[in-house]
Amino acid sequence: MPVKTILITGANGEIGHGLIEQLSEQGGMHIVAMDMVPLEECVRAHCHRIVTGDILDSHLLETLSTEHNFDTIYHLAALLSTRAERQPTLAHRVNVDGSLNLLEIAITQSRLQGREIKFIYPSSIAVYGLPDTATKLQAGKIKEDQWLTPRTMYGINKLYVEQLGRYYANFFRQLDAEPPKGLVDFRGVRFPGLISATTLPTGGTSDYAPEMLHMVAKGKPYTCFVREDTCIPFMAMPDAITAMLKLQSAPREKLTRMIYNVGAFHPSASEIFHILQKAFPNSSVTFASDYRRQAIIDSWPADVDDSAARIDWGWNPIYDMDRAFADYLIPAVQKRYAGKV
Ligand SMILES: NC(=O)c1ccc[n+]([C@@H]2O[C@H](COP(=O)([O-])OP(=O)(O)OC[C@H]3O[C@@H](n4cnc5c(N)ncnc54)[C@H](O)[C@@H]3O)[C@@H](O)[C@H]2O)c1
Repeated sequence: MPVKTILITGANGEIGHGLIEQLSEQGGMHIVAMDMVPLEECVRAHCHRIVTGDILDSHLLETLSTEHNFDTIYHLAALLSTRAERQPTLAHRVNVDGSLNLLEIAITQSRLQGREIKFIYPSSIAVYGLPDTATKLQAGKIKEDQWLTPRTMYGINKLYVEQLGRYYANFFRQLDAEPPKGLVDFRGVRFPGLISATTLPTGGTSDYAPEMLHMVAKGKPYTCFVREDTCIPFMAMPDAITAMLKLQSAPREKLTRMIYNVGAFHPSASEIFHILQKAFPNSSVTFASDYRRQAIIDSWPADVDDSAARIDWGWNPIYDMDRAFADYLIPAVQKRYAGKV
């Protein structure tokens, strides 16, 4: 079997770390890892090639495309929600124009290789926008096509790139005498907030959960920027990686959608604190809601309906809330910060 070549953008990020490790365990593929910042040592060894560069540099991407035959593109590079809100124009450039560049590379690759290129896109619950907390409470589990009225630049960018993906997969050059078919196989998952034991988040609005975990494990006080009753869905990082790999390998005929919700657990901020308090009795967490970031979180659903992913491609997270903290997060951070507190 020929060795497959996989392109991962944003490879040095939280998901990139986990994805590269998992893919390298599977073996049988060459990973081309791209990020604006140099890749950390712990993942470098797993990569066939490392490219330090910007996804807005279309010349660099085109050169890469002449040097490799990509089988699948995992397009992870993005500016996350809080950072995007502080630099909206830059966020639009990176999150939308950058994604467009990658979709164009997928088209070029498809034409060069004469086959469909898989494009895996991590979208977000930020695509949803509920108008107020009363509606959020009432809405319960949100389906993929409900409440698509995001209030952040990041959410708008994610929703638009989902639509771009649908366009490149189904309608690209539809007015040509012979419209091309089967160039890009675009597949997206809308992730909830992700919590990793091994990497720290930066620039997201769901960061309060992983920040609380890591600060408490370090024995440091933490001021949580949302109210205690704040509730959004979360997922342990290993499950997020599994979701992308499962969706990537799902038989095309089983997929009834291009974009899927995936859920795992949906704790309130105080529930997270209470779990952590049991493991770290000296933990000190204060809740001081920042009304601006709170408003963003309040516009995101308390939970998502992920039944389509469960039916179509067997989505089933390993980590519910108890297991995520007891078996994965707490032991890993205890080990990580042992002796450093
Ligand atoms: N972490 C989460 O909770 C979460 C939730 C939903 C969706 N997502 C999505 O998953 C993807 C990866 O998220 P993550 O948590 O690993 O984020 P991250 O911020 O840890 O990683 C993003 C990476 O992209 C790189 N990057 C940013 N701009 C770039 C550019 N112009 N050119 C090249 N590289 C660039 C950054 O250097 C960084 O290493 C993103 O698309 C994000 O929107 C993440």
